[in-house]
Amino acid sequence: AVRIGVFCSGGDAPGMNACVRSVVRSATAAGHEVVGINRGYQGLIDQNFFLNAKQQPIMGARDVSNIIQRGGTILRSARCQRFMTDEGVRTAAENLRQHKIDALVPIGGNGTFRGSAELVKHWDGQVVGCPGTIDNDLIGTDFTIGFSTAVETAVDAIDKLRDTAESHERLFLVEVMGRHSGYLALYTALAAGAEIACVPETPTEIPGIVAHLSQLQQTGKKSIIVVVAEGDEEGGALMLAEKLQRAECTFATRTVILGHVQRGGSPSPDDRMLATRLGDFAVKSIGAGATGVMAGEVNSQCVLTPFEKTFTEHKQLPQALIDLLECMSN
Ligand code: F6P
Repeated sequence: AVRIGVFCSGGDAPGMNACVRSVVRSATAAGHEVVGINRGYQGLIDQNFFLNAKQQPIMGARDVSNIIQRGGTILRSARCQRFMTDEGVRTAAENLRQHKIDALVPIGGNGTFRGSAELVKHWDGQVVGCPGTIDNDLIGTDFTIGFSTAVETAVDAIDKLRDTAESHERLFLVEVMGRHSGYLALYTALAAGAEIACVPETPTEIPGIVAHLSQLQQTGKKSIIVVVAEGDEEGGALMLAEKLQRAECTFATRTVILGHVQRGGSPSPDDRMLATRLGDFAVKSIGAGATGVMAGEVNSQCVLTPFEKTFTEHKQLPQALIDLLECMSN
């Protein structure tokens, strides 16, 4: 039996709690002990542990009851500047040794795994991560925990915007999250029936968009939804709105930034399933001796991917989905 630390780091994502629950239950079932670390790497440096009802720094099966359906993370999350320094990593490693922790399950995105890759250089315990981010920008897993819920939230908002857009014959620019990735924007656009998605991965051609919109207008289109990733090269929805206006787009335009609303809410069944599967797989992989890897699901199979790949390689948008959106927009 080993002592496993679990924590959430970086931007939170719906399903992180379901993943913490899975790690705890799977570890407990295998006879391991779990220590919850609050506030990600910051908590590792500060020795900020989750305390159970008896004020002990142990997370048992009952401490994760009724959290599978809750958004956010009971362990809280943080982006830790100090962990980006050598001193921060060494302090964390020393604390892990002091508290006799043998293995870690960090739940987060590429920034989290960049940190994990550093940690394994200074600590001889095992680290097996789980992908928790609404961005779905990680190589080594078809989907990340939180993405499905974020898409659902954005689509729900756009359905409502479409009603008012249609009544007033307007164009809505809807900004979704994704500083470096257009996955959320592309999926949301397809599922919401939006006309256009502007993503960081491809150039945004203003004259082309204006021509396309006027053609749609001529065929009787009354409302337009353009989904814009915050990291789109034009600088997000507000900038794009200005540029469209200058390019004499004929639609009356309104801009909506969905923002952090996309990060909250009860996780979708898909996110709960993924979190439950991957939390368990991370624990079993630790049992099998793995380290320096992220647990993911590819083609319904659980797989392990070296941390390095998750922050050095960009997950490409599927060309088929880019083409599909174009095909639907006529
Ligand atoms: O990585 C998740 C994410 O929500 C991105 O989509 C977004 O760009 C970023 O986090 C926002 O970060 P913060 O919550 O620190 O403002």
